[in-house]
Amino acid sequence: MYKPANHILVIFGASGDLTRRKLIPALGELQKLGLLPDSFAVLGVGRSKFDDTSYREMISSHMENAEEMLPLLYYHSMDTQAEEDYGALAKRLDQMGSELQIDPSYLFYLATPPSLYEIVPRLLSGVGLTREREGIFRRIIIEKPFGMDYRSAVELNRALLSHLQEHQIYRIDHYLGKETVQNLLVTRFSNGIFEPLWNRNFIRHVEITSAESLGLGTRGGYYDNSGALRDMLQNHLLQLVGLVAMEPPTVISSDAIRNEVLKVFQSFRPISVENMHTQVIRGQYMASHVRGESLNAYRSEEGVPDDSRTETYVAMKLFIDNWRWGGVPFYIRSGKRLPTKVSEIVVHFKPSPHRLFSDHEGGTREGNQLVIRIQPDEGILLKFGMKVQGAGFKVQDANLDFYYKDLSNSRIPGAYQRLLLDCMQGDSTLYTRGDAVEAAWRFLDPVLAVWKDDKSIPLHGYPCGTWGPEIADQMIEGEEYSWRCPSKNLADDGLYCEL
Ligand SMILES: NC(=O)c1ccc[n+]([C@@H]2O[C@H](COP(=O)([O-])OP(=O)(O)OC[C@H]3O[C@@H](n4cnc5c(N)ncnc54)[C@H](OP(=O)(O)O)[C@@H]3O)[C@@H](O)[C@H]2O)c1
Repeated sequence: MYKPANHILVIFGASGDLTRRKLIPALGELQKLGLLPDSFAVLGVGRSKFDDTSYREMISSHMENAEEMLPLLYYHSMDTQAEEDYGALAKRLDQMGSELQIDPSYLFYLATPPSLYEIVPRLLSGVGLTREREGIFRRIIIEKPFGMDYRSAVELNRALLSHLQEHQIYRIDHYLGKETVQNLLVTRFSNGIFEPLWNRNFIRHVEITSAESLGLGTRGGYYDNSGALRDMLQNHLLQLVGLVAMEPPTVISSDAIRNEVLKVFQSFRPISVENMHTQVIRGQYMASHVRGESLNAYRSEEGVPDDSRTETYVAMKLFIDNWRWGGVPFYIRSGKRLPTKVSEIVVHFKPSPHRLFSDHEGGTREGNQLVIRIQPDEGILLKFGMKVQGAGFKVQDANLDFYYKDLSNSRIPGAYQRLLLDCMQGDSTLYTRGDAVEAAWRFLDPVLAVWKDDKSIPLHGYPCGTWGPEIADQMIEGEEYSWRCPSKNLADDGLYCEL
């Protein structure tokens, strides 16, 4: 790995939660690994009234072992929505560049509410801060959510592209920064054994789960306008579908990979209004007792109206209409207040064509499964049938497993650490491209429209600590299969279950 070119990282929303909890700690990790540029500074920007000293104090009160990081931090107080304040920002950056001998390359990170995603780039452009020239880069990282539906995503893309070029825009999806997600590409395309089987002839269905055990926390206001489909499914889950289903790229380059992901999104079979009841299930968590703790209903959470119809759970069955995946269902689900925090992909292979051992107790009825665990206990597991010792042919499921942590002693790097470094190095492979974001929204817009307008589409209640509305089980169980339960015994023993 090489150090990125000298630059100043400008964080808008520097007083906020994301900056404190994720961005500055990620920069701290990069610093420890010697991966920050030789000449580098961070300029926090926002309306809050800090100066350099008080900003450093605020960060150090939230972050352990921040001492080495602190000298790199600066703060500039301004009204981020006021055009007249941007001249002073440009001057401050100029001054910092001269004093610290840093080239005028800037990386702007918009860790602000989405209402500023259009305003800040426009005002930066107005004072020339987005203009690149030979040897000088100007990049912008946009946080999620990127739009609330197809129309707003198209408008935001259009607005950004009137001030910047696509190669300067980095739309973040922190799932793509996770090592295990990237390992999916390596698993598929560096091992000769998987790819010949990776199609409709051998795979029966694919399941993707992203579950959280926590409820809303303090994000009530934001979440109630968003919901599980916009917050998780539109971005993270569809990106995972893209990586599982894409064709091999011709080379490992940003555009080659993102071209293939886009083709997957463009091949999603639209969900018809008639199928909306059976192919998409939405739910909302209800009050219940979990391991002696009494948990609030979503509607009783702070900042949530008591008649809210926002979904905290969504499950979807989707098809990819292309040669590789014709007829193979993908089941994806995400929810809050589920039994555990887990994200995993399960590839279900078809059972053997002739079930020689199916009459024996414990026979592998379901066929082999490849489980790719994204978090926690990152790793890969293959389930297959083994003969039980002794007379007869009793078959039992056995696991061939690999845990990522066993590969080396070094810690698995955090997603923001990887994504920040990539952007500093100008590599956008793990960032979403504008056309893919629009394609994902185009697929989901009819669902949002039906949910909004058709009151006959139910919002199912589910008790906290369960795997969501029971009806979502019928999506797969109706076809003799069920969602894989990543934590069968969790309710009894209160522990994460391993792969
Ligand atoms: N927090 C997370 O874990 C997380 C995870 C994934 C994505 N995100 C996304 O990252 C972005 C930032 O998240 P966050 O949790 O850090 O947000 P936040 O704490 O609510 O806001 C960040 C900062 O933005 C400024 N701000 C807030 N409202 C503003 C307004 N109306 N006009 C101008 N500035 C305003 C505030 O700074 P000043 O008052 O100092 O200007 C605030 O400290 C959001 O878009 C969020 O969706 C966050």
